[in-house]
Amino acid sequence: MQRIGVLTSGGDAPGMNAAIRAVVRKAIYHGMEVIGIKRGFAGFIEGDMEPMQVGSVADIIQRGGTILRTARSEEFTTRAGRARAYANVERFGLQGLVVIGGDGSFEGARRFHEEYGLPVVCIPGTIDNDIPGTDMTIGFDTAVNNAVDAINKIRDTATSHERLFIVEVMGRNTGFIALEAGLAGGAESILLPELPFSVEEVCDRLMRGYRRGKLHSVIVVAEGAASGLEIGRQIKQITGFDTKVTVLGHLQRGGTPTAQDRILGSRLGALAVELLRKGHRQLAVGVRNGRVGGFALEQFLQGKKMIDLEAYRLAGILSI
Ligand code: F6P
Repeated sequence: MQRIGVLTSGGDAPGMNAAIRAVVRKAIYHGMEVIGIKRGFAGFIEGDMEPMQVGSVADIIQRGGTILRTARSEEFTTRAGRARAYANVERFGLQGLVVIGGDGSFEGARRFHEEYGLPVVCIPGTIDNDIPGTDMTIGFDTAVNNAVDAINKIRDTATSHERLFIVEVMGRNTGFIALEAGLAGGAESILLPELPFSVEEVCDRLMRGYRRGKLHSVIVVAEGAASGLEIGRQIKQITGFDTKVTVLGHLQRGGTPTAQDRILGSRLGALAVELLRKGHRQLAVGVRNGRVGGFALEQFLQGKKMIDLEAYRLAGILSI
C-alpha cells in the first residue's frame, strides 16, 4: 500500500491530533504517502485534500481539537455523496483510508467500504466513550478531567455560599462522562440516562446530608438524562435550597489532551497504519483490558456499551 488518506469526523476530541500525527509519521516511516482530508467526509466529497509531510504534524501533539478540522456530513449519508467522495479516491490515488471519529463516522466508513471496497481502519475518537468494542475512546479522559476541574472550582464557591450546584455534562445519550466525573468529583448524586432516577430520592439524600451538617452539594447530570436547568428547578421547588445550575457544554471538549489521550491517540494511529500495511480491509482499532488491538468493525457498531454499575454504586456509597 503506497498512499492512504486520513480524516477526522464528528465532534472533535482532544487527542485526535496525536492520532493524526501517528498516522502521518508511521506511514512516512514505512515509505508511504498520506493525504490529509479536511473537514471529515464533507472535505472528502469536495476534494478538500492535500499531501501531508512529517512537518505537517509538528507541534500538534499537545493541542486539542483537530488540525484537519471536522464536520458532520449529511451528504455522505447519501449514495450520491459517497460517489462524489469515491471520485476523489481515484483522483488522489488513495489505496486505504483511516477514519478518526465516533459511531456515525464508523457507519459512514463501513458503507463506503462495502460500496467501493476501499480498505478502511477506524479509530474511536469521541469524548462520549460510547463506542462498543473498545474500553476507551480518544478524548474521553481529557473531557472527564475537564469536568472534574470544573466541579472542583464550583465546589469552592458552593462551599462559600452554602449552595447546591447542578452540573450538567455532555455525553449525548450516555452517562460515561457523568459517572467518572461524578465519582472523581465526589458528587452527592449522579443522574445517568442508563439508570432510572427520581428527583424526590435525590432531594431525600440532600436533606439527609443537610441535617448532618453538609454545607454544600454538587449533583452531576448527564445531558442525556435530563436538563440540568429543569432538575435544578424541581429540586429548588422541593427543598427550597439556594440552587445554581452550570452547563459545562463545549468546555469539556477543548484544551490540551491528557497524557493518556495523547498516548492512546499515538498508539491507535500507528496501529491503524500497521493494519492497512498488513492488508486488512475493514477493521477498527481499540483498547481492551489495557491492550490496543484491531477488531472487526461490526463489533464497534453493534449493541450498546453499558456503564460500570459497580462504579455507580460506589459513588453512591461514598457520597453519603
Ligand atoms: O459527541 C460529542 C458531543 O460533544 C456530545 O457529547 C454532545 O452531545 C455533542 O457532541 C454536541 O454536538 P455539537 O458540537 O454538534 O453541538
